[in-house]
Amino acid sequence: MSIEIESISKQFTKKGKEINALDNISLKIKEGSFVGLLGPNGAGKTTLTKILTTLLLPSSGEAYIDGISIKEDKKIRQIIGAVFGETGGRSLYYRLSILDNLMFYGTLSGLSKTVAKKRIQSLLNYFDLEEKKNTLVMKLSTGMKAKVLLIRSLVPFPKVLLLDEPTLGFDAESSEKAKDLLNEFNREFGTTILLTSHNFPEIDELTSRLILIDSGKIVQDCAPAVFKQKVIQEYIHLIFSLPPLPADGFKMSQLPTEIFKKLVRDSAGAEVTSLKEKDGLNFVYEVTIQPIEYSLNETISRITVLILRASGEIYKIAPYMPSLKESFLAFLAMNKTNSALEPEAKEEIFTFPMQEEDV
Ligand SMILES: Nc1ncnc2c1ncn2[C@@H]1O[C@H](COP(=O)(O)OP(=O)(O)OP(=O)(O)O)[C@@H](O)[C@H]1O
Ligand SMILES: [Mg+2]
Repeated sequence: MSIEIESISKQFTKKGKEINALDNISLKIKEGSFVGLLGPNGAGKTTLTKILTTLLLPSSGEAYIDGISIKEDKKIRQIIGAVFGETGGRSLYYRLSILDNLMFYGTLSGLSKTVAKKRIQSLLNYFDLEEKKNTLVMKLSTGMKAKVLLIRSLVPFPKVLLLDEPTLGFDAESSEKAKDLLNEFNREFGTTILLTSHNFPEIDELTSRLILIDSGKIVQDCAPAVFKQKVIQEYIHLIFSLPPLPADGFKMSQLPTEIFKKLVRDSAGAEVTSLKEKDGLNFVYEVTIQPIEYSLNETISRITVLILRASGEIYKIAPYMPSLKESFLAFLAMNKTNSALEPEAKEEIFTFPMQEEDV
């Protein structure tokens, strides 16, 4: 089932001030895709997810899931599964056990008792909650409650999953399990998934499309790998030595840098971006190299051949690939620098000390 979002805006009023939580968002998410929603605190991710799950009405704009308008809340709720990690605790009955909660929601979604029970049992087993199934929700730890909420969203095998920080509070092992399971739902059942998370590896490993929102606007929309490359270039970190040059030859400080750079350019189609002497006595150099003509791996093998042919020795040759988190932080910093130049943002900064004086 596809998701279509058309010019959605949402304003909140807080202490008489209007907040633009979503500013004219339009998106098309194809059936069966796994999309990540990323953004700093307050970007508008939960607001967007709540609008899609019919928990909030947009101020303007429209959205459709499988062609059904989100105004038709009953129909929409029948076809989606949703998790809100941050406020999730409130959507379970605290005085009921895990099993009673899950059976209640499972049968509410139209499943027979037998089918609901079978699915619930296997999901409880999967997340090591089987022994706790008769425990009241109010006695569960944060992570356990989060697991129950994720299970609750999966029991009906919905065609669309809208997940807002679903693994918040999960321990490392359960996080991995959740990743595997979501991946399976997407691949095996073709479930369309929109996943919001501050857990970067989760977004990086699972999704094939990344939507980054900041201050209610979409600021990036591409594959995670493409985003990473756009923001921080990958490079090669190399530590190597060359044999000493003939007796009357060069000292380290006389390393024919330009010759080395040219060799790298000619034989590996790459650019030496930094070169320093690491151990002058032993002719050891440390360099960074930017692949240009060939892929990272191809460049590494070409440089290896180049150094070995010159009878040099390699101590380290490793690709540096930025993580999604590093790229995300670099991107936000860049965005901030750009908007700091705009007059509107400057005004914000200058009003801050004045407010303090008022107090
Ligand atoms: N009920 C509300 N009343 C007033 N303002 C709200 C309300 N809900 C959200 N906001 C504001 O809307 C903006 C977007 O909030 P939202 O919860 O969607 O952010 P988010 O991207 O989910 O952030 P986080 O990463 O912290 O979960 C914020 O400025 C927030 O303060
Ligand atoms: Mg949120």
